[in-house]
Amino acid sequence: MERIMVIGAAGQIGSELTMALREKFGNDNVVAVGRKTKPSEELRNSGPFEFSNVLNYDEMKAMVQKYRIDTIYLMAAILSATGEQKPMLAYRVNNDGLINVLEIARELKLERVLIPSSIAVFGPETPRDNTPNETILKPKTMYGISKVHGELLCDYYFYKYGLDVRGLRYPGIISYKTPPGGGTTDYTVEMYRAAAEGKPYTCFVKEDTVLPMMYMPDALKSIMDLAEADLSKLKHHSDFNITAMSFSAGELAESIRQYKPDFKVTYEPDFRQAIADSWPRSLDDSAAREEWGWEPEYDLDAMTRDMLENLPKVLGM
Ligand code: SER
Repeated sequence: MERIMVIGAAGQIGSELTMALREKFGNDNVVAVGRKTKPSEELRNSGPFEFSNVLNYDEMKAMVQKYRIDTIYLMAAILSATGEQKPMLAYRVNNDGLINVLEIARELKLERVLIPSSIAVFGPETPRDNTPNETILKPKTMYGISKVHGELLCDYYFYKYGLDVRGLRYPGIISYKTPPGGGTTDYTVEMYRAAAEGKPYTCFVKEDTVLPMMYMPDALKSIMDLAEADLSKLKHHSDFNITAMSFSAGELAESIRQYKPDFKVTYEPDFRQAIADSWPRSLDDSAAREEWGWEPEYDLDAMTRDMLENLPKVLGM
């Protein structure tokens, strides 16, 4: 039976992932764990919710035992932009949080651990177009460094202890429900939100900045499909490239203008430009497609339509 814990359940991906898992496996079988971000009513009322910190090993372990958890989704992380402002916090949460979860899973013999990695594992020396799964991993951000370390640790636990750890490298994730926090790709969601509110937007990367992106329904599908993939077919474990689309900030603004012709964007790059410039423009995700059948549903147009349809409700307009 699936007894799942989502750590980082109040975050951008965690909050929607928890609800998707509850729908699939039953509300009581999915325990949400958040640290301090205020969880939505929906999240708190639909199933078990616990406040804890992934850095508190004993408390986390006790909770895994209390709820007889067999699968953990570790979604708690300090992303790239916040990580550059608070490198030690990113180091601790991303590295120590992961090793805590891996050790708990090993000690308690859990069935599976899922943990996203990120396009942040790549760096300026990496080929930027159609970036292969196997390539140079020399990131320049603390977030990226912790994700490379994380991928290596996860594979180590698989080969040394037989712990079934799986992960994928998310591109920028876009959604209308929970805003992202502290990432370099956050301008995408900020741009949609400004457009929905009828306001102009000042973008913190240049107009021609291209990054790989994905709409939330595909992000949820990807990690849930990977969790169910046949282990014997997996040659990779914690480091699958996945992508859905690539576009520039200017192309995103154009896509929004199909629905909001007067939408105005100006560009004032800040420190996040250098991070964006060190990441791939597009990814080769053929390993994920071949090994577990990954295929995205949403392209830029479909995402823009859905975002602009749903944002007014979320923003209370
Ligand atoms: N969205 C993330 C970030 O910008 C990338 O994994 O940090």
